[in-house]
Amino acid sequence: MCAKKDIKKIVSLCKARGFVYANSEIYGGLSNTWDYGPLGVLLKNNIKAAFLKKFVQENEYNLQIDTAILMNPKVWEVSGHISQFSDPLIDCRSCKTRHRADKLIKELNLGNFDDMSLSEMSEFIKNNKIKCPNCGNVDFTSVRNFNLMFKTFQGITEDKKDEIYLRPETAQGIFVNFLNILRTTRRKIPFGVVQIGKSFRNEITPGNFIFRTREFEQMELEFFCKPKESFKWLEYWKNFCKNWLLSLKIFPQNIRFKDHSEKELSHYSKVATDIEFLFPFGWGELWGIAHRGSFDLTNHQRVSKKKLEVFDEKENLEYLPEVIEPSLGLDRVFLALICNAYEEENVKEETRVVLKLHKFLAPFKAAVLPLSKKLSSKAYNLFLLLSKKFQLVYDETGSIGKRYRRQDEIGTPFCITYDFDSEKENTVTIRDRDTMKQTRVKIEEVEPYITDEICF
Ligand code: GAP
Repeated sequence: MCAKKDIKKIVSLCKARGFVYANSEIYGGLSNTWDYGPLGVLLKNNIKAAFLKKFVQENEYNLQIDTAILMNPKVWEVSGHISQFSDPLIDCRSCKTRHRADKLIKELNLGNFDDMSLSEMSEFIKNNKIKCPNCGNVDFTSVRNFNLMFKTFQGITEDKKDEIYLRPETAQGIFVNFLNILRTTRRKIPFGVVQIGKSFRNEITPGNFIFRTREFEQMELEFFCKPKESFKWLEYWKNFCKNWLLSLKIFPQNIRFKDHSEKELSHYSKVATDIEFLFPFGWGELWGIAHRGSFDLTNHQRVSKKKLEVFDEKENLEYLPEVIEPSLGLDRVFLALICNAYEEENVKEETRVVLKLHKFLAPFKAAVLPLSKKLSSKAYNLFLLLSKKFQLVYDETGSIGKRYRRQDEIGTPFCITYDFDSEKENTVTIRDRDTMKQTRVKIEEVEPYITDEICF
């Protein structure tokens, strides 16, 4: 169970092995901002590939697009993000730190913020003498709404008319291209559009490593369907998403569905469910699955005056499709997969740290290891040959045992050892990360062996 794992050890492994680095570290960092190192990028790319394989390549309904981060500010007015995309903010007058008022109330289990207005939250915090989590004083400002969008200026002047926003979700890029997609792909409802890309939110309380950051990547699907079929599709995508996680070896006991209460719903949702993951710091939202109704298309049609309705020939009916939206944070699922895979095992009275990632996700599919430096040149040739097919690593330093452990820690599923018999017999041994068993395989069979094993 992830709840028993130590997040500090997982964070240090990520930093030490080049999965994740603190951003701008040589200047003291930028709080809650992280960079992905060489192994982190490989893992991220493999997660995206696993997502695209099941959600686009093998899926009869879905397409992928890639839209710009900067958009006409009208989009955010119409989508409701300028007026409604905010969190309740409170400032500590003593130490000048900022906090989310709803979280202060929730974390202390003092009450249900769901039913409170901003002024009721202020009163509640005052009456219950809630302390500042940073300095312990009881001296807060009143609660006010804080818009989460990052604002900047386009062009050389910093006038109000030049204000633009960094997108807080990738979804709007899909909605405003709905007509283009209909026109250019000849798709009929139901169909879905996937987008993977960066989003930005000026979170009041980022934290828990890469769980909540101000710059993050989303993998979103906007699935357009007939209104009367929308709840059927909601169930379909909830199960599809859950099964995708399970197929990547996420343990079933580490995930659960949690429905949103009416007050928790975002301004555009009719109903919503989260898939939560049991992180070492507790259950947290992993994947938001929302029924957005026709909220976005209705508003974009009204303001842009472009007709977004579709025509159903069978029913002789014009209608606005409704949208089911599974929205997954790439950084969050990255963290969930690492926490899920991290194991410490006792092997011959030593602790072996092993990342039991799904083999398809592993940054390196195999390591090529010559048993002795005398065998380097032939082993290296094998590495070059197999590198045409897979992302591999070559390692000839240290004892073979140490080299195995190095690969276990970063989740490499196979260690291919080139030994003295390799020369004579044209074979190598392949050691399996999870069972630690070794199998002798003919060199020409290594490629199909690995291809078979990493299949997803
Ligand atoms: N388009 C809908 C949408 O953006 P959301 O529930 O606000 O919905 C979807 O976000 C997912 O994006 C979340 O479930 C989470 O995985 C990820 N996410 C949201 N805010 C994040 C943040 N500050 N840092 C990292 N991931 C975040």
